This record gives sequence, structure tokens and C-alpha cells, in this order.
Amino acid sequence: MKLNEIIQKQGTSPDKLINILMEYQKTKNTKELTREDLKIVAQELGVTEALVYQVATFYTLLSTKNRGVHIIQVCEDIPCYVNGSVNVVAELENKLKIKMGETTYDNMFTLEHTSCLGCCNMAPAMRVDGKLIGNLTPEKISEIIDEYRGEKK
Ligand code: FES
Repeated sequence: MKLNEIIQKQGTSPDKLINILMEYQKTKNTKELTREDLKIVAQELGVTEALVYQVATFYTLLSTKNRGVHIIQVCEDIPCYVNGSVNVVAELENKLKIKMGETTYDNMFTLEHTSCLGCCNMAPAMRVDGKLIGNLTPEKISEIIDEYRGEKK
């Protein structure tokens, strides 16, 4: 679905801003909101480009950067940190052969930090394509990545 079709469906009220950005981002292979996208949304909703940019860069579910097919967001807040999120990140970086904030060469995975995911009782936790996964261990990371690569069922 094109951006103007989504705006037409959602309506042009400024309170639809996040919904429009989320829905449009999902339709893009790069999962990236470009400057041109933000400009169009601002014009259609009658708000400033600065406001749209602030929203697009504030929420971790939105991005103004090119991202892979699967977006892995590792919680970096204290409960996850004390339960070993550093080891989880190290295993993800090792398995994916990228550093935090990067996208794999085949554009399959993007690795990001995020704030608390609201599931501290299963720390350390991460979100993959919106799905929460907790009680992570380096072994579990390897299995999860293999599953997303389609190498394991
Ligand atoms: S601190 Fe990590 S999920 Fe809450």
C-alpha cells in the first residue's frame, strides 16, 4: 500500500501520525522512513516536519535508517543488564557477524538496543519483529537466529 493510500485510510488528523508511520513502515522492504516520507506525512496532516521527525526517531518501533528483514531489539535497561544482556548482545554480534546498530550484509537482520520491553520478569529479553523473547542465554540466541534464517524448525 502506498503512503497516500494509508493516509487516506487512516485520516489526516494529527493523532493518526504514529499509526500512519507504523503502517507505512511495515510496507517497506527497508523498514525505513525516509525524509521524503516524513515530509509528505507532515504536509498531509498539517504538522511540522520537525514534529514528524521527532516522532519517527523517538519510538523504537519506528526508524529513519535502513533496516533488515528481521529487527532484533535487545533491552539495555538495568534488570536485563544485571541478568546478562551483555552476553546476549555478544552472542548476537558473533552469530550475525555485525556490531550493535548494524544490519547484516544480506539485509536479513538489524541489531538494535531498546529500553525496557515491559517483561523484566524474563530478563534478559529482546524483541524480534515485535515478538518478545525472554530468559535469553547464548545457546538460545543461536537457536533463535537459526530459526529466523530458516535453518531450523
Ligand atoms: S529491563 Fe529489560 S525488559 Fe524490562
